[in-house]
Amino acid sequence: MKKPRILVIGSIFMDLIFHGIPRLAEYGESLSGESYSYVPGGKGANQAAAAARMGADTTLAGCLGCDDNGELLLNNLKAFHINTNHILKAPESQTGLALMLVDSASGRYVSYNVMGGNNLITPGQVEDALNDCHYDMILIQLEMPLETVYRTCEMAAERRIPVFLDAGPAMSIPLSRLSGIFIISPNESETKALTGITVDSNENIRRAAEMLYQRVHPSYVLLKLGERGAFCYDGTDSDFVPAFNDITAVDSTAAGDTFGGAFAAAYCSGSSIHDSVLFANAAAAICVSRRGGQPAIPSYEEVTAFLKVRGIDI
Ligand code: RIB
Repeated sequence: MKKPRILVIGSIFMDLIFHGIPRLAEYGESLSGESYSYVPGGKGANQAAAAARMGADTTLAGCLGCDDNGELLLNNLKAFHINTNHILKAPESQTGLALMLVDSASGRYVSYNVMGGNNLITPGQVEDALNDCHYDMILIQLEMPLETVYRTCEMAAERRIPVFLDAGPAMSIPLSRLSGIFIISPNESETKALTGITVDSNENIRRAAEMLYQRVHPSYVLLKLGERGAFCYDGTDSDFVPAFNDITAVDSTAAGDTFGGAFAAAYCSGSSIHDSVLFANAAAAICVSRRGGQPAIPSYEEVTAFLKVRGIDI
């Protein structure tokens, strides 16, 4: 099988994860969680870690501060064998930090972050990475300046490199400069932010996918629908790929990023769209069944073993 070459542009955070919070606090109220951990995160770094864990030759372009967290996160990326040549260190900035509050019952989270160096990722940095070699796919998200997101899409189009955009975190953004990307992949809340549609029925899922398709003209709209699975729409046909619900969800941190990284690695290795989504669903399911974001991302061998015991061989 071909070893894919993937470029990820995006965020690197230190995550401070609170586990087992009873509910969200009101102003002036203080509630106790069960435990906490500091783990490497950021949507870009998580996507890159997932792609690398799936065997892709992975480069990450991003920006850290010149502090202890920055040093730690850089070493962590190197340990994943990710090419860090395009990660800058900005003396004027802190390394990004995300506070993740995870609900023990559902595994879902709310988060707050300080972007720090992630706000300094520039189109010039992307261009430098693009000049290095040819990539099979570019993965991006929205945790960086929007101009960098748009210019990445434009530069990728000039070079005919497919772009997978994970549309997180949820925000309403102008979509015209994303025109022609390969995939736009929002989760439920991101779909709501982009389309105004709550994806609570099959009809609304289809309506949201059609609206995104008309606005972005991607090859595919790929909606991540949590425990329901993923909905893939190509402007005519759709494919609902169910999630694996025979696992216990304990922490959904990085599940969407794992989905993107695993999808990209599988697709660029020659799998079909359907099989790549199935593979990505399996990788995300393993991720949510474990605590702690990036360390919960499975390897290629773990994903194929997970599929095999369920009678799936891809
Ligand atoms: O998608 C999960 C990630 O979002 C976390 O790792 C956190 O850093 C935030 O960026």
